[in-house]
Amino acid sequence: MSILSFPERGEGGDARYRGNCSPKVYEWLLKQARPRRLLDPVMGSGTSLDVALRSGIQAAGADLSTSPYHQALKARLERAGAQVHLGVDATRADLAGLFGPADLVVAHPAYGTQLVYSDDPRDMSQLGDDEVFYEALQALLVNMREATSVGGHYALIIGDTRKQGRYHSYQAEAIARLPRRELQCVRIKEQHHVASGRRDYGKLRWGLTLHEYLLVWQRQGQLYALLRDVSRQDAARSANTWKTIVRRALATLGGRSDLETLYTEVSRGAPDRVQANPNFKAKVRQTLQLLPDCVAEARGVWALAA
Ligand SMILES: C[S@@+](CC[C@H](N)C(=O)[O-])C[C@H]1O[C@@H](n2cnc3c(N)ncnc32)[C@H](O)[C@@H]1O
Repeated sequence: MSILSFPERGEGGDARYRGNCSPKVYEWLLKQARPRRLLDPVMGSGTSLDVALRSGIQAAGADLSTSPYHQALKARLERAGAQVHLGVDATRADLAGLFGPADLVVAHPAYGTQLVYSDDPRDMSQLGDDEVFYEALQALLVNMREATSVGGHYALIIGDTRKQGRYHSYQAEAIARLPRRELQCVRIKEQHHVASGRRDYGKLRWGLTLHEYLLVWQRQGQLYALLRDVSRQDAARSANTWKTIVRRALATLGGRSDLETLYTEVSRGAPDRVQANPNFKAKVRQTLQLLPDCVAEARGVWALAA
């Protein structure tokens, strides 16, 4: 099947969960990849886990959310035999250590800023700045790859978006940030029943984007091989930018900090970059001005906007 199009959603997960995915997409993926154990580190309403469990495949899942909805979902999935952890930042947690290896790791992360899942600054739907989002996406993918057993598959479901007149191809960015030789398949996944599809977009020159992509890679080697390949493709892409360093430091400090504490946290989080830049404090202040979700609450006190 070259284009994945399932007008009927199918059984599993929760059709009312915003941004949920059709179970039939996961059915198709399982049929091709034939895993024994699936891990979904951004499980949302648990669609992928439901599909795996009813196919006799071991299932594990995580989500950043610890809401009552997710506590109830965790209890339900655990009763069905799945391993579930909540409050997990899939871009940073040691997924391999937390769950052990899986031979299929699949993620349908939050992207763009139209669907906001929480006010947690680690939430991928909170990352309004392009560079920060791309680095988080890369961190998620490298993390997923690390949790995939050698020979197993890792897969991403993601769409593109248009923001302030600019087109952002998240799927192209994802492909560019991973080893070319590991890419196995790119499928277009038609989106049905999308809320925005019911509005009038007649004035858009290029019309609405009503599809996402399913990208599948096969893990072929150890991390050093990935780093070598990625750095050959583009060394700059794998380095954290100042925006990511500063935003992450502020998030680590609870989303609010005075400058001195922030300098200390930046020095702890990115010692090499700080050592290489004697004017790093000025760089931090300049970066704070550039981040769209950082606000000066008082003189010398910065916060991530909720
Ligand atoms: C598009 S939804 C997944 C929907 C899922 N495929 C389904 O069918 O229900 C994305 C999920 O990513 C979670 N999320 C956002 N940022 C995250 C992060 N940093 N780590 C883990 N989960 C995150 C959100 O809470 C949300 O549940």
